[in-house]
Amino acid sequence: MADRYLSFTGTAPGRLLTRRLGLPQPARLRRWSAEQPTLQGRLLHLTAGKSDLDLAPVLALAGLDLDLVPAGSALDLGTENPVAVVLDATGVRDVDSLAEVHAALHPVVRSVAGSGRIVVLGSLPDPADHHQAAVQQGLEGFVRSLGKEIGRGRTVNLVRLTDARAAESTFRFLLSPRSAYVSGQVIEVGDGGGTDAGAGTGVVGAPVDWGRPLAGRTALITGAARGIGEAVAATLARDGARVVCLDVPGAGADLDAVAARLGGVALALDITADDAGARIAAALPEGLDVLVHNAGITRDRRLVNMPAERWSPVLDVNLASVLRTTDALLSGGTLRPGGRVVATASIAGIAGNAGQTNYAASKAGIVGLVRSLGPRALSEYGVTVNAVAPGFIETRMTAAVPLFIREAGRRMNSLSQGGLPVDVAETTAWFASPGSGAVNGQVVRVCGQSLLGA
Ligand code: NAI
Repeated sequence: MADRYLSFTGTAPGRLLTRRLGLPQPARLRRWSAEQPTLQGRLLHLTAGKSDLDLAPVLALAGLDLDLVPAGSALDLGTENPVAVVLDATGVRDVDSLAEVHAALHPVVRSVAGSGRIVVLGSLPDPADHHQAAVQQGLEGFVRSLGKEIGRGRTVNLVRLTDARAAESTFRFLLSPRSAYVSGQVIEVGDGGGTDAGAGTGVVGAPVDWGRPLAGRTALITGAARGIGEAVAATLARDGARVVCLDVPGAGADLDAVAARLGGVALALDITADDAGARIAAALPEGLDVLVHNAGITRDRRLVNMPAERWSPVLDVNLASVLRTTDALLSGGTLRPGGRVVATASIAGIAGNAGQTNYAASKAGIVGLVRSLGPRALSEYGVTVNAVAPGFIETRMTAAVPLFIREAGRRMNSLSQGGLPVDVAETTAWFASPGSGAVNGQVVRVCGQSLLGA
């Protein structure tokens, strides 16, 4: 359903009126398009504290179409506004060096272009050094606050890392139009076990062609007949994957049409069937590289009014079937080494939501699954396990929400607008990339930094 307020504030009278009244000013976000696949302009590299990270080569070779302004260079901020800023704060270990974060960004932040990106790099808080742990955790509060105040479609995220090269796919995502609706997030990127060694095993290796990173890979998407699942299938197909689109038999013609449009295969199957894993394995004798658990349902009612008939199907579709099929496809070897599992949580599973005890339990369960299985699946099977947690996304599901609640959902985030299915799809595609082997066990919200669960 069209967001009329967003259209109105895109006009000159709309901008004037909403500014006068102090109403939200959503910016038109720059998303990926074939004509403009990258952000273009200057990428400013700043440093706070003494960093050991070898970042410059990664920022320079990342093929971002950005002109790198190296750390220490002077920039005339009147005429040379950056479209992206990477602040390396991995070496911040005490309150004095935390002040360098302020000193680095304070003069720059006003000049960052609309729909620009700020990525702050941090280290994992050190359990053996409470000063380092305190100020590294401090970066989280800093980033989340800056995300709330920066406006004009600009995003701010924190990446905790130890190896810059293992984070290349993450830089490519966060410093591009693909991450338009991802802000205020904290993402941990491991060392990938050493990128070169990983490449040999196919577990972490960088994709051959960053333009079509999923070429030669097979991806299965559940709930692909419409909404977010359809967008995920389209985005993975754009990135080169052969897509297998799964939905309930009742989705019939819609499912066939999506699969045909994307040059993929339709698989009509209720994911809650006991033998769903076996039937997927039988349909994919050559194996599977990317498994996207997107199918989901709601049966809202407050707990006092919720009979078991409304509880069980939600837990079965959203969580039990995800557990069952993941287990079956991992242990049976259908998910190949280098594989990716991407599940779908929700901000309701993080913040809770009145009327959604069943749904929130199922979606919080996805968070638990990802955190527990991620490290084990990587070491035992060479497969990463991550989740997207969408906020308010413009789909048929949210179009059916009553007007007042729908408007609140759209505006109660730092970007003052709902996300689009493609925003969830782009985040899924980043997790799915062969270059993302060092991104594991993460739950990334695609919510424009929603106030819910913030
Ligand atoms: P949707 O209702 O438009 O599409 C869901 C699809 O899953 C449908 O095609 C449906 O037929 C399929 N499906 C349902 N039960 C199935 C089963 N047993 N077997 C196979 N397929 C089944 O939903 P939407 O909005 O696209 O959501 C997709 C996912 O994103 C869901 O997991 C949802 O919980 C999650 N989500 C959506 C948000 C939103 O704002 N739209 C917010 C947060 C999470």
